[in-house]
Amino acid sequence: MTTRPASTDTGTGTGPAVPPSADEVRHPHVAPSLVWSDGAILVIDQRALPHETRWARLETVDEVVEAIRSLAVRGAPAIGLAGALGVALSARAHTADNGTTDMAAVRADAERIATARPTAVNLAWAVARVVERLPEGPDAVLRAAQEAIDEDITTNRRAAVGAADLVTAIQPDRPLRILTHCNTGRLATAAVGTALGAILELAARGRVAEVLVDETRPLLQGARLTAWELREAGVPYRLCPDSAAAAAMSRSMVDCVLVGADRIAANGDTANKIGTYALAVAAARHGIPFIVVAPESSWDPQLPDGSGIVVEERGADEVTTLGGVRIAPEDAPVFNPAFDVTPCELITAVVSESRVLRPSLKSDAAPDGETGARQSDNRAVSGHRIRAARALADYCRPLYARGWMPGTSGNLSVRLPGQPSRALITGSGFAKGSIGSADMVLVDAGTGRPVLPVGDGPRPSAETAIHAAVYRSADANAVVHVHSPYATALARRLGAADRLSWLALKDLELLKGLGLKDTTHADLPIFPNWTDVARIADDVAAYLSDCPGPPPVLFLADHGVTVWGRDLGQARNRLECVEAICQLLLLTGEPDTTRPAA
Ligand code: MRU
Repeated sequence: MTTRPASTDTGTGTGPAVPPSADEVRHPHVAPSLVWSDGAILVIDQRALPHETRWARLETVDEVVEAIRSLAVRGAPAIGLAGALGVALSARAHTADNGTTDMAAVRADAERIATARPTAVNLAWAVARVVERLPEGPDAVLRAAQEAIDEDITTNRRAAVGAADLVTAIQPDRPLRILTHCNTGRLATAAVGTALGAILELAARGRVAEVLVDETRPLLQGARLTAWELREAGVPYRLCPDSAAAAAMSRSMVDCVLVGADRIAANGDTANKIGTYALAVAAARHGIPFIVVAPESSWDPQLPDGSGIVVEERGADEVTTLGGVRIAPEDAPVFNPAFDVTPCELITAVVSESRVLRPSLKSDAAPDGETGARQSDNRAVSGHRIRAARALADYCRPLYARGWMPGTSGNLSVRLPGQPSRALITGSGFAKGSIGSADMVLVDAGTGRPVLPVGDGPRPSAETAIHAAVYRSADANAVVHVHSPYATALARRLGAADRLSWLALKDLELLKGLGLKDTTHADLPIFPNWTDVARIADDVAAYLSDCPGPPPVLFLADHGVTVWGRDLGQARNRLECVEAICQLLLLTGEPDTTRPAA
């Protein structure tokens, strides 16, 4: 920061609040929000933004505690780092000229700092980290705090890039509308930011159409700070009341929600700024990915789940007044929690500097059909995807009921509308009579490979490579593979184990049902059913690339039939025609309808 303060009266620090000098900024390539400066801590006083970029100088532990409590410095990583530097202040203050340190006094100060705000685990974590170095003397404590700052910048950068990669993988086809809450930018960290860091990374890649910024009642971190940071970075944004977020989602104005975290329990339950939970519920309702970006230091592995997270309750005046003006009756009782806890099953992914976790998959919450917890996970997110996933499940069940997908057999896939490079396919091993939308897997339509790490979630169908071969070369948006009895019987009777064979059809009215203009004849391929599915997929790909405008059907010897179409409905209708054709041939005893293709 180079802007000189408009005022030197910070109300927090005791010294003149000048911005840090170039020497004091250890990472000149990033804009810092807090630095060590000549025996004190300099922080951007976030209470003054966006009107004034003012630096506060903190020289005592009392000032550090007050700055954290009053939100002059705020955001989980930033308060941790300010706290760590606060311990360094204390260690210096309690070290005599002869070099002896009053450890008990420093530890008492450290305890006061660590408990200044209860929810963000980063505060106690960073304080404990530097207190460990106390026996080495005050300089070691300061060095440890500086290291924590350096590390914060590196970890934020990694997490931001990881989250940007994930979002890009989920939604590759167009610039995104991203909703964010509170402030998770450089102000909330040493520099770079977490969720907002990821948004800026996406913007740098040209992937952001607009950021929808929740104002974040009651202290307006979104309106005051995030809007300020986005404006500073030149990223297009619009501010909205918190209460408009769900409406924006319902109007397809949001592709993805990115937020930070103050404490993440071992199961992935995440505490963050009040209002985050409501966003997660609304995002799940609309099938929108909900992603938490936070450093590993935000995890609290001691807590099995979010029920043990202490949520800070703040003063009534934050709610009853606005800009210093009372907006509620004098004696209005108030409920003002600063944070809420989002259950892990509503979270698509938690991204840190070292991993992408999908906590919803770890949840042991029992799925309850279409509305179960697992529905919200990233196997079936975004409006298009949730609808496509439901359609797949809806098409599976009646085919199962007809006996065409016995047990767990058969698989269906569909390209995502508006995202033709992606397809959803039935997960492997699911009984098709009870499969749900959460059991579908997002894959690259051209390769069949899962788009997101599968973890312990469903794997794509073992026959995904065959679907991908069809998507690559045929005019298809949906592929249906079943073991319908007549088609399967004919494929067994006519197919060869080791070479391509054919079902040749002549003068069949039902050929119209396959979308073929010429109903006088059609040759349908029967592929060997190699145990190596990739080999079948290669055969199919080779056949389709040699055969422009093929009939939308292929058989697998001894196995079943695969049919495709412009959508699931058309593929299913075509399948019914194929099955009727095979039934007709078998019932009329015309096995000699087979002949080698010309
Ligand atoms: O009360 P605040 O403003 O400190 O709350 C901050 C948040 O909830 C942030 O989202 C969280 O700390 C992550 S900041 C990278």
